[in-house]
Amino acid sequence: MEYKSDFLVIGSGIAGLSFALKVAEYGQVAIVTKKEAMETSTNYAQGGIASVFGQSDTFDLHVQDTLEAGDGLCKKDIVEMVVEDGPERIRELMDWGVAFTQEGAGNLEFDLGLEGGHSRKRIVHAGDLTGRAIEQVLVDSVKNHPRISLSENHLAIDLITYSTRVKRGTVTAAHEDLCCGAYVLDTETNEVHTFRAKITVLATGGAGKIYRFTSNPDIATGDGIAMAYRAGALVANLEFVQFHPTCLYHPEAKNFLISEAVRGEGGVLIDSKGRAFMGGYDSKKDLACRDIVARAIDSELKTSGDDSVFLDISDKDPGLVQERFPNIYQKCLSLGIDITKEPIPVVPAAHYMCGGVLVDTEGKSDIERLYVVGETACTGLHGANRLASNSLLEAVVYADRAAEQAVKDLESIDGEVCLDLPRWDPMRTVDSDEAIVVSHNWDEIRRTMWNYVGIVRSNNRLRRARNRIETIQKEIHEYYWDFKITSDLIELRNIAMVAELVIQCAMLRKESRGLHYNIQYAEKDDKFWLKDTILRRPFVG
Ligand code: FAD
Ligand code: SIN
Repeated sequence: MEYKSDFLVIGSGIAGLSFALKVAEYGQVAIVTKKEAMETSTNYAQGGIASVFGQSDTFDLHVQDTLEAGDGLCKKDIVEMVVEDGPERIRELMDWGVAFTQEGAGNLEFDLGLEGGHSRKRIVHAGDLTGRAIEQVLVDSVKNHPRISLSENHLAIDLITYSTRVKRGTVTAAHEDLCCGAYVLDTETNEVHTFRAKITVLATGGAGKIYRFTSNPDIATGDGIAMAYRAGALVANLEFVQFHPTCLYHPEAKNFLISEAVRGEGGVLIDSKGRAFMGGYDSKKDLACRDIVARAIDSELKTSGDDSVFLDISDKDPGLVQERFPNIYQKCLSLGIDITKEPIPVVPAAHYMCGGVLVDTEGKSDIERLYVVGETACTGLHGANRLASNSLLEAVVYADRAAEQAVKDLESIDGEVCLDLPRWDPMRTVDSDEAIVVSHNWDEIRRTMWNYVGIVRSNNRLRRARNRIETIQKEIHEYYWDFKITSDLIELRNIAMVAELVIQCAMLRKESRGLHYNIQYAEKDDKFWLKDTILRRPFVG
């Protein structure tokens, strides 16, 4: 089947849905999302959205904190723009119906939380289920919108690009392609459809699943980054993978985060003997930036040989803890841990991709008519390390900017575009009889990344990882073209691609900065490395 729309949005998190709601006034919007619409990282966000509302807070302070966390690589003009736009975007979310926690009944002042790296309380939240409060409102709004169609269980396989390559003098401009939509697998019928659109938006979220341990839901397989890279777009700073210091360590808990806001309310990290250890690593102790806390825990675990450290908030008022963290309290209690009485076992896990598809100030990639918003994009806001709760903020600010620009682009596109799109070639009709190959490779990639491209890296580990991933890539390539595609195979191909790109970026950066720590280059090198690591697929043809 072929579907046509003005806008194709791939992904149903905060970035994709808020973009869709804004452009729907100007054209038809098709949203495709690979599982149920709610199944997004957005839905699991706990802490909240950072923005300046506090009495003693200023835009300058938020900018400074963001720059400090980003360790020299944030783009200052972008940081200022995002920070200053924050309050308006948050009010807009409220206008759409999101109910953030207020201080006292009927009061219009936010109950602001504190997280690592923030010098003031500025985290706007909805209890500890901020993401769910946002996602539910956005999903309901798009479902009720007459100009938006939402296709769940539709997984985008690849972007469709149409070459407009032109000669400039004697030189062929290699990357002046137009994006015309995407090939999308309906995972219920196993049919591949063509979604043709005048403007395409990648809002596919992060890539935590390239690691064995992650806070991310299963959808986070880096599909957007892989698709954009294959289509020839620039990607950047993928070595900066953020590890959240405190994910619940329990055999029955898959991907459960213990929000940084718990430390913001006085929670303290201790080892198995009850010793608070963060004072030995940073003057901000438990509220140091995430890279510092995650490395500290890694070091403690390597020294002690323990499986986890602990986060202790049991000395605080039990009523207040239950009221502020109802979801965390209930989840832990269901696993036999009463957080008002005992410490919570925690470990670091891959959490957030600071790099992504390189975009300009309006969220445009360097492929015409391809926008990228949310975690999939690299905007210059986060630099080498994202400040806590700046991600939801970036997503809404950029969705807004991209929507405004995309509407202008739409006006300038005359009639039908990309007339002769190739149809999906369904030649691979043979069902695979070796699903074990797919699951084995999934597992191997994620272990390799965890063991060799984790919180602490070295040249040898990176080389080893690169060799393994290269071998797996070859195997996947053969398999991909021989058998009927499935969602597992598509995602496997993507996690392998993104793993390869993370390793490439990490090998390029010969220093330690922010989230990237290589024991061979333990220092920062401002003279040479105050710049992004940028990759583009080698040009063929
Ligand atoms: P997502 O919300 O992840 O949505 C991605 C969408 O793309 C999904 O619908 C997915 O199904 C779809 N998709 C992916 N690939 C395809 C494909 N090939 N085809 C079709 N659809 C596809 N940030 C904060 O600022 N504050 C917080 O408190 C906070 N807490 C967090 C807690 C957790 C547990 C996690 C995991 C993250 C947290 N973050 C937080 C980070 C933040 O939630 C994410 O960065 C943000 O929600 C990303 O939004 P997004 O719209 O870019 O992507
Ligand atoms: C958290 O609640 O700790 C997550 C915040 C974030 O990732 O920004």
